[in-house]
Amino acid sequence: MTRCSTAIASLLFAASACRAKTEAAPTPSAAAAHAPPAAHDSLDQRTPLPLLPMMAHHQKQNMREHLEAVQQITAAVARSDFDAVATAVKRIGYSEQMGRMCGHLGSATPGFTELALEFHHRADTIAAAAQSRDPAAVSAALAETLSACTTCHARFKQEIVDEATWSALARQ
Ligand code: HEC
Repeated sequence: MTRCSTAIASLLFAASACRAKTEAAPTPSAAAAHAPPAAHDSLDQRTPLPLLPMMAHHQKQNMREHLEAVQQITAAVARSDFDAVATAVKRIGYSEQMGRMCGHLGSATPGFTELALEFHHRADTIAAAAQSRDPAAVSAALAETLSACTTCHARFKQEIVDEATWSALARQ
């Protein structure tokens, strides 16, 4: 090898070694950024509910709407406005669309959809109680419904996954 080609070869080697280094090892700050979420996740021993990012986002939006519905129901019972109770319950009651969505969210997680459907059917009993115009009956049905919320929260946590993992896990 001539001196010139040796110099070029060692330059190329240095360049590729440098590139390999930046690509392979995450910078310390990137590694540090992943550490807190991983530590948080290991503290949370609930069963993972794998979801794609968009599904996870929609599920949380949905959850916040459920909480709003519950807030509206309690406010309506307090002023004995049973029509407003019935209107608010429609936001969390069972519908075919709701059923399909719960089936989709739970398609990678055995047991999730069943709990979700059970919850929506319990919510329907609040509407039935509102027809009797009995505040105690409405409150009792609401308490039963809320225990379906807390049962599911005690059992599952979201786990964000990529497309490949989702397709491998989801029931077709
Ligand atoms: C079938 C399961 C299930 C049911 C039923 C359920 N949830 Fe959730 N909910 C979840 C999961 C899973 C999460 C995400 C928890 C996590 O990853 O920490 C969640 C999160 C939430 C959040 C947090 C949203 C956010 O922005 O982070 C709220 C609020 C919430 N749920 C309210 C409710 C209320 C109110 C009810 C009942 C009226 C309810 N949920 C019923 C499964 C459920």
